[in-house]
Amino acid sequence: MVQLDRRQFISTAAMGLAALTLNGASHALTPPSLREAAAGKGLLFGTALRAALWQDKPYQTLVAEQCSLVVPEGALKWDTLRPAPDRFDFSGGDAYLKFAKENHMKYRGHTLVWHEALPSWFASTVNSGNAKKFMLDHISKVVGRYAGQMYSWDVVNEIMEPHDRRPDGLRKTPWLEMLGPEYIEIAFRAAHEADPKALLFYNEDQLHPETPQAEMMRQKALLLFKDLLKRNVPIHGLGLESHIFSNGPMAGEGFQRFLHEISDMGLLITVSEMDVCDQTFPADVMERDQLVAKKYHDYLSVVLQFPTVAAVSTWGLSDRYTWLSMHNPRKDGLPVRPLPFDSDLHPKKASEAIHQVLSEVPARSNRIHAINRLSA
Ligand code: XIL
Repeated sequence: MVQLDRRQFISTAAMGLAALTLNGASHALTPPSLREAAAGKGLLFGTALRAALWQDKPYQTLVAEQCSLVVPEGALKWDTLRPAPDRFDFSGGDAYLKFAKENHMKYRGHTLVWHEALPSWFASTVNSGNAKKFMLDHISKVVGRYAGQMYSWDVVNEIMEPHDRRPDGLRKTPWLEMLGPEYIEIAFRAAHEADPKALLFYNEDQLHPETPQAEMMRQKALLLFKDLLKRNVPIHGLGLESHIFSNGPMAGEGFQRFLHEISDMGLLITVSEMDVCDQTFPADVMERDQLVAKKYHDYLSVVLQFPTVAAVSTWGLSDRYTWLSMHNPRKDGLPVRPLPFDSDLHPKKASEAIHQVLSEVPARSNRIHAINRLSA
């Protein structure tokens, strides 16, 4: 048996080779998993999970092999957690935590304060008189339940919307209308109190494109972070959702300047929900997979240059389960292919692209190694 050193192993996997010929003999290779390749640089690699997982053993195996971090796609959102104002259903959240522990994966909570996925009773029950109590009770109960067991929480989600034309850039949401901009600070302080060990993130969509709207959102986000940090609000980082559009403007200099500023503030960054929408890409699967892979490569090679990035998660791992089948289907009716593994659970070019980037980017600092509890 020919031994391969780790570098040969990783670069072979990055080239997407299933077998390597050494001294004339062919040796089957299992490429290192994404979780191993990420760990080699001090990073976590993760994915979002939905309930279909429980009926799908091969998918469970793939997730356990490839991921060191998991996040429920819906189980910790208000509408799932709270069937009635006075009733909580933690069954989904608890089951994913058990799965994470059994497979030595970290667990991320998503999400405490969002304008979507509110329960049907919300609008008729929550008002400006009781909104603060509802938010505080929710956070102390939900964060408290998983205290000490969560790697991080997405405390506030998608709170900026340039089209709402507010000077502070904030999105007009029920929370903003009922509590004013202070709702953000209230949420972070409550989450920290309920679990002082969890990292607390602001998670946001579409910060990467080189467009005037995204630039405006980046500037407002920087002001928000500065203000929160100045007032010692316990906020530890920014989640970049990273839903990439097939025909969208890509990450450029404005985005990189922004990531520099975020890093200089001592904040962490994560890629929190990456996928590549292939809606306008050609039907041909080889060509399509190549274009999707290039988006993964180009985006991640920009973001992962920043040593403050602690984790990369995709929003689903295999094309078998992706929200884009419903939310951004193709006009020709072909199944969408936005994720690193295909619907047969085989690695795609996107997976190779992630390996490639992971082999090229700098190792994380000792600080990130310690945060991710990986040895430096
Ligand atoms: C999506 C889920 O994937 C869908 O299944 C659900 O129908 C809607 O929400 N940004 C987020 C995620 O922060 O919570 C969203 O998840 C995708 C966009």
